[in-house]
Amino acid sequence: MPDTVLENGADPALKSLWAAVLTAARWTRGNSAPLQAPCTFVADPLDGLRAVADTSPEGLLQAHPSLGWVACAAAPPAAQAFFDLYLPLCNASARNPLTIAHLGQSLDGHIATSAGDSDYVTGPENLSHLHRMRALCDAVLVGAETVATDDPQLTVRRISGDNPLRIVLDPQRRLGSAHGVFTDGAAATLLVCDEARIERAGEKVGAAEVLGVPMHEDGLDLRSLLTALRARQLCAIFVEGGGRTVSAFLEQGLLDRLQIAIAPLVTGAGRPGIHLPARDRVADCLRLSPRVFAMGADILFDCELRGAGDPKAMAHPSTGTLRRII
Ligand SMILES: NC(=O)c1ccc[n+]([C@@H]2O[C@H](COP(=O)([O-])OP(=O)(O)OC[C@H]3O[C@@H](n4cnc5c(N)ncnc54)[C@H](OP(=O)(O)O)[C@@H]3O)[C@@H](O)[C@H]2O)c1
Repeated sequence: MPDTVLENGADPALKSLWAAVLTAARWTRGNSAPLQAPCTFVADPLDGLRAVADTSPEGLLQAHPSLGWVACAAAPPAAQAFFDLYLPLCNASARNPLTIAHLGQSLDGHIATSAGDSDYVTGPENLSHLHRMRALCDAVLVGAETVATDDPQLTVRRISGDNPLRIVLDPQRRLGSAHGVFTDGAAATLLVCDEARIERAGEKVGAAEVLGVPMHEDGLDLRSLLTALRARQLCAIFVEGGGRTVSAFLEQGLLDRLQIAIAPLVTGAGRPGIHLPARDRVADCLRLSPRVFAMGADILFDCELRGAGDPKAMAHPSTGTLRRII
């Protein structure tokens, strides 16, 4: 029987859980000194979280010196799935940077039709989840094709929270400057290209800053990019698509988490989600140990990739119990 977490944007219980999670993430980023002892918090209508005694039976969340944010045993069961999904993002900091990707795909593995339409593959609950992911991260990153096809805003609109920096990978600088991310002023945007294409310092595309990174045969050096982003105090990076961009991060071993939401949709043909070099044997493929969440009619697989492929980790796979985040 799946657990149920109340939704929707207007639901006060969910709003209060979300405010607590958002405050926890901000608290971690603002707290430069390592914790010496656990701190326990309850939800607070004004401040998101309020510190209480560690022995308080009402404790909802605890910031732990070694474990990071954890749900207290007293947290209502309906809150546990919500916390399980979002607390890993609240632990991102300069000392513990995080790169996480998400794709929403059809039952037959496509993130868009062949013509590029992806409006929308997954349902409204997963869209709210995407906006929560944006709000919990310092930057949201997409490939040039997503901007060319969707002209997305990449802002936080369905829930409360701040807009992250928007990053577009456009190695050849093929995108025109009229796209919304370069002109709408809703959030800062960084255009990342092959460093050989930078003509002068301080170049802009619309209002977007241009950053050059080394380019190799198989594309941009994404490790150099992450290093440059971390030097700018951007420690939680959300790679939101499309398939080629997420696959490049996965192939270069740069993702800490991968989330795939599967919608009850059959496109028959379409643009692929993950696409990696072929393996002949199933035994050589990447078998993950996901946590599984129901979101409306969609199922989200949330996969920890740190240590994935490690036979010891695979010997104790998660139970894959389905929990509901409506
Ligand atoms: N359902 C979803 O979750 C979801 C999410 C986002 C987008 N979409 C859909 O997905 C489609 C676009 O996805 P896509 O896979 O075709 O393209 P994409 O990942 O959006 O963009 C791919 C392009 O970005 C640049 N790029 C990405 N990674 C790079 C790297 N490591 N090195 C160099 N360049 C890199 C390249 O630009 P160049 O081509 O200029 O070399 C590459 O061709 C659209 O139809 C969009 O609507 C769906």
